[in-house]
Amino acid sequence: MGLGGPWDAPDYGPEHIDAAADAVEAALSIGITRFDHADIYGRGKSEGVFGELLVRDASLRARIQIQSKVGIRLGEAGGFGHYDLSGKAILDGVEGTLRRLRTDYLDLLLLHRPDPLLDPAEVGDAVARLLADGAIRAIGVSNMSAAQMDALQDHLPVRLAADQLELSLRHHAFAESAVLVNHGDGASVSFPHGTLEHCMRHGIELQAWSPLAGGRYTGRPPAEASDADRATSALVAELAAAKGVTPEAIVLGWLMRHPARIGPVIGSANPARIRACAGAEAVAEAMTRAEWFALFQTARGQRVP
Ligand SMILES: NC(=O)c1ccc[n+]([C@@H]2O[C@H](COP(=O)([O-])OP(=O)(O)OC[C@H]3O[C@@H](n4cnc5c(N)ncnc54)[C@H](OP(=O)(O)O)[C@@H]3O)[C@@H](O)[C@H]2O)c1
Repeated sequence: MGLGGPWDAPDYGPEHIDAAADAVEAALSIGITRFDHADIYGRGKSEGVFGELLVRDASLRARIQIQSKVGIRLGEAGGFGHYDLSGKAILDGVEGTLRRLRTDYLDLLLLHRPDPLLDPAEVGDAVARLLADGAIRAIGVSNMSAAQMDALQDHLPVRLAADQLELSLRHHAFAESAVLVNHGDGASVSFPHGTLEHCMRHGIELQAWSPLAGGRYTGRPPAEASDADRATSALVAELAAAKGVTPEAIVLGWLMRHPARIGPVIGSANPARIRACAGAEAVAEAMTRAEWFALFQTARGQRVP
């Protein structure tokens, strides 16, 4: 999302292509081979700059997987417009994405956000056409609940492959929804109950957006940091020092420790920070329940009931 320079700039320059190349190189160096896009990122510049990399290095496309999203329309002045998951918007969106990325296909297309006006049969027709044309190889969603996925699934020619949601040590409502069943505080939990379980049962990959919470616990605390934020940052640093890993690996490892095998979609464009994410998988494998709950309870600011 951060590639291609500022969203309000009219175009990207050579310096943005070089910066994107450095970020991609850093990602590949730690074994990351999948890249997340959306037609709106940088108002198209993120995909555009990435397409330049695919032209620069003809061998790159075969070594990576690319996913992108459609379904949000930007407004005239560059601000947010509205959602649009009509069949035409999906087909036009993918066409623009492939043109900017300079590739023939997406490994995975995600429907960016639930559109209240979405007609599942119309979406199903558009997706069937894209699959038949070879423009996309799989279909998934983003920010959708289990019920929304089910309603769509009935009209799709293939199984949904993924759901991308905001999940992190900071945005931990998914864990709250598990521990607060039949508890008074559960009424305030925003996470659609049962969505993780639905994905696990149906083999739908769970992807986490903003998994680093923008650096909240790993070196960029917000100006209005709470006591829980400060305590969480301290615990993350303490665990990182004890395990000889980076704070980023702890925060990502906490997510990946979940049996749903949550896959973090890291948003950094900084090569050093991307490399600092290496080791998260090993941290996840070794993370004890005591450590996982210590991080969760510190971030939520109180013990689980
Ligand atoms: N499906 C959706 O609705 C949706 C919504 C939002 C995002 N996404 C996807 O998810 C990806 C990740 O989201 P995200 O970028 O919001 O989240 P993130 O990975 O939690 O945070 C990355 C951002 O935080 C900054 N950052 C992290 N640690 C820092 C530190 N210690 N000091 C200073 N800055 C730090 C990074 O800056 P640097 O670049 O300088 O490292 C970068 O701007 C996006 O790129 C996008 O692909 C999807």
